[in-house]
Amino acid sequence: MGSDTSRLKEQAAHRAVEFVQSGMIVGLGHGSTAFFAVKRIADLIRSGALQNIRGVPCSRKVFEDARRLGIHLTTLNRHSVIDLTIDGADEVDEHLNLIKGGGGALLREKIVAQASLCEIIIVDESKMSPVLGMRCAVPIEVAPFGWQSHIFFLEKLGAEVKPRRKSDGKLFKTDHGNIILDANFGPISDPAKMAADLKARAGVLEHGLFIGIATDVIVAGKGGLCHLDRD
Ligand code: A5P
Repeated sequence: MGSDTSRLKEQAAHRAVEFVQSGMIVGLGHGSTAFFAVKRIADLIRSGALQNIRGVPCSRKVFEDARRLGIHLTTLNRHSVIDLTIDGADEVDEHLNLIKGGGGALLREKIVAQASLCEIIIVDESKMSPVLGMRCAVPIEVAPFGWQSHIFFLEKLGAEVKPRRKSDGKLFKTDHGNIILDANFGPISDPAKMAADLKARAGVLEHGLFIGIATDVIVAGKGGLCHLDRD
């Protein structure tokens, strides 16, 4: 990642954190962009500008990062409504629909997002896309049992499918011990229908199409910041 992109990610994150208020339950997203928000929240807690914040991490990694940075954590079981979540995305369309899961945390990310009153997505401008699927594959989290059978199912839906692997060639496992199939559909003309088709398949635990979930998207570009919202 170039330093320019990194700076844009940080700018989007810092703008999003301006919406965090003392006393909030805050969802902490996974990925390099969301990490800038986690660090910013931690800095503001340390300086006393934010008080009584409790975070709900979207992955084990974020749990570790947030704890190390001194953010008090809670769980969705204890606080079932989250005031505000800040998370990244891999691709965003003009309707604020998303592809997420490049970091492999899509299941928790979607659970946290759907429990959030406000879901702010932070991206640099390279993630914006006229049609979802043009920039990246859709990550699909499947149960280990019979996981290879889903490849044929996804191919019938038009995807080119790659099981996600680590650098050592072994299968990538999610925080929940599941497998990710990266399904490249190309441009997806009807993401809501695709989401429903994927969800109807037994063994598909979650997919990276986030339809109608983001309330706000903050895009950082060379020309400045742009705040898109659903209203
Ligand atoms: C994590 O599973 C993803 O949904 C991330 O939000 C996404 O991959 C964006 O990551 P970066 O902020 O690192 O680009």
